[in-house]
Amino acid sequence: MLHSLCSTLLQSGIPELGLKEIEQLLEKPKHKDHGDISFPCFALAKHRKTSPQQIAKELSQNLSGPLFQKIEAVGPYVNFFFDPAAVAKEMVNDILAKNSSFGTNRNGAGAKIVVDMSSPNIAKPFSMGHLRSTVIGNSLCLIGEKNGYKMIKINYVGDWGTQFGKLIYAYLQWGDPEKVAQNPIQELFTLYVKFHAEAEQNPALEEEGRKAFQQLESGNEEYMQIWKSFKEASLLAFQKVYDLLGISFDSWKGESSYNDKMEATISLLEEKGLLIESDGASIVSLEDESLPPCLIKKRDGATLYATRDLTAVYDRFHDYQFSRAFYVVGHEQSIHFKQVFSVLKKLEAPFSDSLEHIPFGLYLKDGQKMSTRKGRVILLEEVLEESIAKARQNIKARNPDLPNLQEVAKEIGVGAILFHDLKQDRMNSIEFDVDEMLTFEGETGPYLQYTHARAQSLLRKSGETSFHFTYESHQKSWEIIKELYSFPNQVEQAFNRRSPAIIAQYLLKVAKLFNQYYSQVKILSDSEQQESRLALVNAVTVILKEGMRLLGMKAPDQM
Ligand code: ARG
Repeated sequence: MLHSLCSTLLQSGIPELGLKEIEQLLEKPKHKDHGDISFPCFALAKHRKTSPQQIAKELSQNLSGPLFQKIEAVGPYVNFFFDPAAVAKEMVNDILAKNSSFGTNRNGAGAKIVVDMSSPNIAKPFSMGHLRSTVIGNSLCLIGEKNGYKMIKINYVGDWGTQFGKLIYAYLQWGDPEKVAQNPIQELFTLYVKFHAEAEQNPALEEEGRKAFQQLESGNEEYMQIWKSFKEASLLAFQKVYDLLGISFDSWKGESSYNDKMEATISLLEEKGLLIESDGASIVSLEDESLPPCLIKKRDGATLYATRDLTAVYDRFHDYQFSRAFYVVGHEQSIHFKQVFSVLKKLEAPFSDSLEHIPFGLYLKDGQKMSTRKGRVILLEEVLEESIAKARQNIKARNPDLPNLQEVAKEIGVGAILFHDLKQDRMNSIEFDVDEMLTFEGETGPYLQYTHARAQSLLRKSGETSFHFTYESHQKSWEIIKELYSFPNQVEQAFNRRSPAIIAQYLLKVAKLFNQYYSQVKILSDSEQQESRLALVNAVTVILKEGMRLLGMKAPDQM
């Protein structure tokens, strides 16, 4: 807002530049004596063929406004000095008036973005990697909506591929239907691990797995029934996780939805002359891009992961006419997406410039990758339940009479996990540590939630319900207000850089500043500044709550 105040004032004197252009020229002066913002006149001097000093002098003569202490020319610059008291008042009241819509912009103008996210594999436990995709994807969607885009969340469930041949084989060979019915995810996972262990001894099993998948792809009735029951059981189990996280999807079209559309993709590749034979398999060569070839069809006719991705994106374009497509998937699949995107470019797909892989790092346990194949896996549902139980203990110790303890425990326990993930640059690997996530003091979700609840409790104690800011003398307040008012900018940055961490780090900063202020200023004090201070506290709650919402977190009023 500070920038736009200056550019708006300047505009009448600079007809040759647009408002945005003027705004982009504005600088933050290196020296305090040169004001809060300055406008360099060099670019204009070129246009007008006069000296920048002369222009600065002329421009500054006609400028004034109620929010400025002074506006003066120094050399080639016009320097703006704000009146902090006046600006603070404007800012705080603006935040309060707009409330949760503060920071919303129309940059996206309703353009659609499809987001491929979560996408766990059926018959396997929901892994921590899929948690990252779910949490990052969901936050990007919330941030995208705040920037005026229409975000479409697609859960591209991994429900097709050779592994289901292996699993069906293992199930028919060693499975106990009753046990599987009782505890499907655990039992199927055990069978999957067993298959790989046995195959190491007896490589012929791999061939059996391939054959079984072939049967499945050609529609074998019995195999289809088994596959369906695996899928149903898995989706039920996944739903529990999504309910705990409070996340839903616009589409559940998984890999298997494309079985009957694969031939069309293959024909398209053929027509373009892209498909070549190699060892009986069909591939697209990507040598010119220094990438390994993209496998389209195996020797036995089975389709592949890439074939399904190629098919799915055409279908998404048909369904949504998206302006961009995001794939929120771990960085270990980077090559895969480079291949798929390159093939689409060769196909001259109309959307081939709109595709984006949004990668992220691994979740580590004691410094090691969590891998399903070896059986070293953390069950997400258990993790969430554990986190909620611990949050419950923490809160109970502090606030034994909290009325809706269970609900709040869920919000804190889940918030802890979400925030632990989102606060870091998404490319970083994350070490998994529930106790660290749940502390109320560190840079954690509960710390933010607690700061917000503390501010809410101040407002409650005051007995007031509406607040207006007039004047606050404490020097710390100006720092907070400036920070609060940069929220709209953070919202834009977070979207442009596809980075929820920008919001997360920003919220930590706001919380820290507020906690410092809170420890230095007596807010409920009968002083004439009480109402303004409460208004400031209220503005802090607005930003913390809306910011947490953008991360997918809840902000309880009491905890
Ligand atoms: N189900 C896949 C896996 O777990 C992730 C799918 C990612 N999305 C995609 N369009 N390939 O590895």
